Amino acid sequence: MSEAIPDIRIYPDLDALSEAAAEFFTKSARAAVATTGRFTVALAGGSTPRPMYERLAAPPFGDVVPWPGIRVFWGDERCLPPDHPDSNYRMAREALLSRVSIPSDNIYRMAGERPPDAAAAGYAETLCDVFRLAEGELPRFDLILLGMGSDGHTASLFPGTDVLTEEEKPVASHSVDKLATDRLTLTLPTINNAAHVVFLVAGEGKAETLQRVLEGSYEPANLPSQLIRPTHGRLTWLIDEAAASRLDRFR
Ligand code: 6PG
Repeated sequence: MSEAIPDIRIYPDLDALSEAAAEFFTKSARAAVATTGRFTVALAGGSTPRPMYERLAAPPFGDVVPWPGIRVFWGDERCLPPDHPDSNYRMAREALLSRVSIPSDNIYRMAGERPPDAAAAGYAETLCDVFRLAEGELPRFDLILLGMGSDGHTASLFPGTDVLTEEEKPVASHSVDKLATDRLTLTLPTINNAAHVVFLVAGEGKAETLQRVLEGSYEPANLPSQLIRPTHGRLTWLIDEAAASRLDRFR
């Protein structure tokens, strides 16, 4: 299969990246709601997306995103209560969801406070209901936002973990030994079934790993971000100059 040239867009800094990401989200959401009546998006956790979420909550974006048609999910969650400072849900609620007119029924939180296996099974049922899935069918998100860790992980797909080989479940829970925590995550089949996957990567601290992921040898067990290859969708990387600083193609 010929390698598609990845869609890599570089911005001067995180501010410019966040503005572009918010504009992209708004355009995609408006188009989807206009044609299908809804827009299904899985949010990324961590810190990088926060400025984008804050922009989406404010003018000009907050006023034009068709919030009643937006269905918000998460790509992953830490197994913590929703009000815990490290909760991905809490970050998105503070930065965005509490500041826009999205119906609470349109927000599908991963239940980090529940036992991990039960939370994963419950989220899979939620996906089945909301996406009206047949037995064994995977959800197809309109958009999945992802971050990338300096170890090459994305969502909660960490190097060397069994979840990387999950081929059937749409959602999984697992213990991440290096973090001594349990995590919930959309699995690769679900992520790669999306219509559009967008990475948001910023900062010098990601530059070496990003160069390996995008230009180095294929070593997915060590660099799970390399496993993100939408089977019939688009993959876009929104990165800042600091994170792109090691890329051969942009030096
Ligand atoms: C999480 C995220 C994770 C994150 C990366 C990058 O729950 O931590 O989903 O995959 O996107 O670790 O995190 P930063 O944006 O904070 O660098």
